[in-house]
Amino acid sequence: MDHELLRAEFPVLAELTYLNAGTCGPLPRAAGAATTVLQHEAETRGRAGEHYGALVQAQEDRRARYAGLLGAAPEDVALTSSTTDGIVRVLQALDWSAGDEVLIAEQEHPGLLGPLAALVEQRGVVVRTAPLEHLVEAVDGTTRLVACSHVRWTDGTLAPAALAELGGRVPVLLDGAQGAGAIPVDVTALGCAYYAASGQKWLCGPIGTGLLWIAPDRRADLRVRAPGYGNLQVPAEGLSAHPWDDARAFDALSMSAESSVGAVTAMDVLAGAGWDDLLERAATLAAGLAERLTASGRTVAPRGRTTLVSWHDDHAVATRDRLAAAGVVVRDLPGTDLLRASVGAWNDERDLDRLLEVLAG
Ligand SMILES: Cc1ncc(COP(=O)(O)O)c(C=O)c1O
Repeated sequence: MDHELLRAEFPVLAELTYLNAGTCGPLPRAAGAATTVLQHEAETRGRAGEHYGALVQAQEDRRARYAGLLGAAPEDVALTSSTTDGIVRVLQALDWSAGDEVLIAEQEHPGLLGPLAALVEQRGVVVRTAPLEHLVEAVDGTTRLVACSHVRWTDGTLAPAALAELGGRVPVLLDGAQGAGAIPVDVTALGCAYYAASGQKWLCGPIGTGLLWIAPDRRADLRVRAPGYGNLQVPAEGLSAHPWDDARAFDALSMSAESSVGAVTAMDVLAGAGWDDLLERAATLAAGLAERLTASGRTVAPRGRTTLVSWHDDHAVATRDRLAAAGVVVRDLPGTDLLRASVGAWNDERDLDRLLEVLAG
């Protein structure tokens, strides 16, 4: 990978020390350009057959890119608007009885907790929480679903590999918001039933893009509760129309051609650098940052080989603001004393130097 070439694809990196892909990744120039071209065509030529042709093509391209990244088949990937959207689609599609248990890990993101709270209130589902490292042992006879982050948003800890062993027994829903595009993801090896992820974070796409992988042998467990015409095989059949019998039945109800083209173009920029190199470089840079923060006297939260690095700071919000004022973008984690840097392959030692320099005051 020519790192300088990759870096040059991201205009924000010339302006800022951008370490925030865990919220939203840097947007490649090419993605903005492709979106602008499509927008201009829509403005000048209207949005009729040609535009819809572009929309359908862009969606299928996006599905194929996501599938390639996950080691999956395109027909098992639904196009969503976000990780949360994918989680909601799964949780709402399962059949629940009062008393059914969902087992989650500590420190899950509101993107999982919010939809779960609705299940508790509306369906009488019970949520039990266990430490992430003991999640597998915590499964018992009442557990209907295990749901947790693939990479924990607060500190970059990885879900235990032993979750894969649950496979046939209890389905696992992985929140892959900090996984897809950040670390290698092979959904089959993970042994999960569902993998939901974001397009706007480590895949550097537009906000409003995401994916949901559904294991083929778990699709029948999901009911298509609220199909739109795009989820139907032959929409013209009206009340007799049937949903697709693949993951398209769970696609988001409305998606713009611009967002899909932006997402595809961004992924092509990343793929051009070579996914293996890219993921390895990001993990190595992040590990290096963790070491340097520790060496500088800061307490780094225990983490896995991921792209998130969090450290304790008694004045996290003030430090975040001080860093932002100096052009260094990291985030604080509400309810904790942690600051979090997200390190991508597009970053380099200059970014890490700058973060440490401003932190040191
Ligand atoms: C672990 C985790 N889950 C879910 C989300 C929500 O992602 P999205 O905005 O794509 O729904 C985030 C980040 O915001 C996250 O870090």
